[in-house]
Amino acid sequence: MRLVTLVEVTSNSGRRDVVAAINALSGLLGTKTSGSMHSKTFYCGMLGEEAVGITGSRQVNKWLVEQVHTIVFPKHRGKGFGRAISDAATKKLLLTYGKVFCTVNENNVPMVRIKRSQGFEQEGKLIDHFAKGRTILVFSKRRK
Ligand SMILES: CC(C)(COP(=O)(O)OP(=O)(O)OC[C@H]1O[C@@H](n2cnc3c(N)ncnc32)[C@H](O)[C@@H]1OP(=O)(O)O)[C@@H](O)C(=O)NCCC(=O)NCCS
Repeated sequence: MRLVTLVEVTSNSGRRDVVAAINALSGLLGTKTSGSMHSKTFYCGMLGEEAVGITGSRQVNKWLVEQVHTIVFPKHRGKGFGRAISDAATKKLLLTYGKVFCTVNENNVPMVRIKRSQGFEQEGKLIDHFAKGRTILVFSKRRK
C-alpha cells in the first residue's frame, strides 16, 4: 500500500487544491459544509507536500459515522492511493466510533475492491436508488 499521511483539512485551508477538493466533496454530499444536521470532517491524503486525494466523514451519532466518497485526483489514480486514504480514514474513525458505514455504487470496481479488502461487510443493497439501474451497496465495519 502507498504511504500517505492523512491530514484533517477545512475550507479555510490556504491551498487551492485542497479547497477545490473540499468543494467537490461538499457538492457530492449535497449540502454545504456548515449549517447541516450532521457534522462533517474532511481529510486529505498527502504524499510529502502534495495532496493526492481526499475523503470525508459525516457523524450520525456518537456511535455511528458515515465514511463518504474517497476521491483520488485523476493523475494519481491506480497507484494505491485510494486504498491508502480509505484505509487510513477508516482506522482513524474507528478510534472514535463503534461503527463506520459507507455506500458505494456497485459498478465502482476500485472502491468495491477497496472496501472488501479493508474488511468491510456488505450489509445491504439499495436497488434503483438514485436512478433506475443505479444500485448502491451498503458496507460497514465495526470496531473490534
Ligand atoms: C475510486 C478511487 C478513489 C480509487 O482510487 P485509486 O487510487 O485509483 O485506486 P487504487 O489504486 O487504490 O486501487 C484499488 C483497487 O482497484 C483496482 N483498480 C484501480 N483502478 C481501477 C479501474 N479503473 N478499473 C478496475 N480496477 C481498478 C486496483 O487494481 C486495486 O485492486 P486490487 O484489489 O487488486 O489491489 C478513484 O478511482 C477515484 O477517485 N474515482 C473517482 C471518484 C469515485 O468514484 N470515488 C468513490 C466514491 S465512493
